[in-house]
Amino acid sequence: MTTKISVVKPISFEWLNSSYNRIMNERILLEQEHKAAGSKFFLASMANSHVKHLIKLAQDESLIDLLGWNTFFNPDETEEFIEAISSYAFPYSRKSQPLPFGIYLNKDNFPIGYVVLKGLNMDLLTTEIGIAIMDKKYRNKGYGTLALKRLILYAFQELHIQTIGAVILLSNNRSINMFKNLDFVVREIMYKSWPMPNGELADMVLMELKNDNITAWK
Ligand SMILES: CC(C)(COP(=O)(O)OP(=O)(O)OC[C@H]1O[C@@H](n2cnc3c(N)ncnc32)[C@H](O)[C@@H]1OP(=O)(O)O)[C@@H](O)C(=O)NCCC(=O)NCCS
Repeated sequence: MTTKISVVKPISFEWLNSSYNRIMNERILLEQEHKAAGSKFFLASMANSHVKHLIKLAQDESLIDLLGWNTFFNPDETEEFIEAISSYAFPYSRKSQPLPFGIYLNKDNFPIGYVVLKGLNMDLLTTEIGIAIMDKKYRNKGYGTLALKRLILYAFQELHIQTIGAVILLSNNRSINMFKNLDFVVREIMYKSWPMPNGELADMVLMELKNDNITAWK
């Protein structure tokens, strides 16, 4: 009897880093179909003016309680804004250049929100994901779920990430439901662990999705 040995080519650290660097230097455009809307939308790296547009949309008190950070920035504070959307909390997450994407209904228009990979750990192949549909009129229309889905596939398939974490305020039911619908599971609830801009400590939920778990996705 012969034993079939399948050789799995190891992905080298250098290869991963070079592919990460390439991605950082290219304008990436990811397409996503929105079947219910009968249209496509896009995730793309953002020009500075587009980050400024998100800064404008973020001037909304109600977002602070959903995101857990002060969303009010001056128009020129684009770097500070990207830093704020790139904060991470899982013990395995590392300081790394984030990959922020604008969510575009139309390639020539301003984004309606962002989705970001952050805290990438290329040794352990982990990342965290964050999202906000900043333009209120586009919430509850499926864009959040679909934008996450597209970026998750990108992280698993193109970056060879194995685990994606999401850190959500326990009070943000809508977001927790959305991540659950995408097969994320609750790893831990950290009570009174997140310092809110008003000085109070909020409860956080740490959720995770493993690469193997998306085989059930349609
Ligand atoms: C949370 C957010 C990203 C969701 O994106 P969205 O495009 O509005 O949501 P979707 O239309 O894709 O709906 C996603 C899921 O959210 C849940 N959801 C939507 N509205 C809800 C509500 N009012 N109550 C409870 N759950 C709700 C549902 O599970 C829904 O899936 P389903 O309706 O298919 O079962 C978006 O509303 C948002 O940016 N909110 C403000 C910022 C924020 O909370 N960001 C997340 C931080 S972790």
